[in-house]
Amino acid sequence: MPRVRQHVNPLKSDLLEIADVPRIVPGAGQPLEVELGAAEAHFLIDRAGAEPEALFVGVEIRRELVEATNADCARRGLRNVRLVFANISVDLPRLFAPGSVRRFFLNFPDPWFKSRQHKRRVINPELVAELARALQPGGELYVMTDIFALALDAMAALETSPAYASASGAWTFARHNPYGAKSRRERQCEQEGAPIWRLLYRRVDSAV
Ligand SMILES: C[S@@+](CC[C@H](N)C(=O)[O-])C[C@H]1O[C@@H](n2cnc3c(N)ncnc32)[C@H](O)[C@@H]1O
Repeated sequence: MPRVRQHVNPLKSDLLEIADVPRIVPGAGQPLEVELGAAEAHFLIDRAGAEPEALFVGVEIRRELVEATNADCARRGLRNVRLVFANISVDLPRLFAPGSVRRFFLNFPDPWFKSRQHKRRVINPELVAELARALQPGGELYVMTDIFALALDAMAALETSPAYASASGAWTFARHNPYGAKSRRERQCEQEGAPIWRLLYRRVDSAV
């Protein structure tokens, strides 16, 4: 794999105006699952093994990682896993039609460094509303993080949105990862014995 930067700033001007963001259109009746900040797509590759008929899309802001991971998936014959170079802070409306996504996964999102106050508010009311727009009724939003403050912020944003209900009971973390798939960071945390906070919410049918 070519040299890949460890971090980029998603608020850099060129990353706020990525020109060639595609529209993701699954096949007729084909379920669509999306990991936001997918890195090398380990989680999606596991998911694709469990469900070869579905489409698995990773949104990732490091272009060289997107290219290397797509080449790797092609070599392995994984035709239903695809990474797209896009910025989750601004590009979700271009990527996904309303009601088109069965599941969003936010696995170990980087803290947002827009401002000191919002340092940990990766999952804010705007993102939560945008994900609700793209989710099917009953669709799922799953979040994992090893940063407790970030998990609490995410829970507050989801609990106070009328568009979601917790699958684990109000203000309650999920006990385990139910998807038969692991992300790289999740494996790392498990090896290190670090705690992982998990949230599973469903798009409420009648919400706007
Ligand atoms: C901590 S890594 C987690 C990777 C993977 N989900 C996992 O659990 O192992 C966060 C990933 O999100 C990507 N990322 C951060 N901000 C992003 C943004 N605004 N849009 C798209 N991807 C972003 C980073 O480049 C990085 O690959």
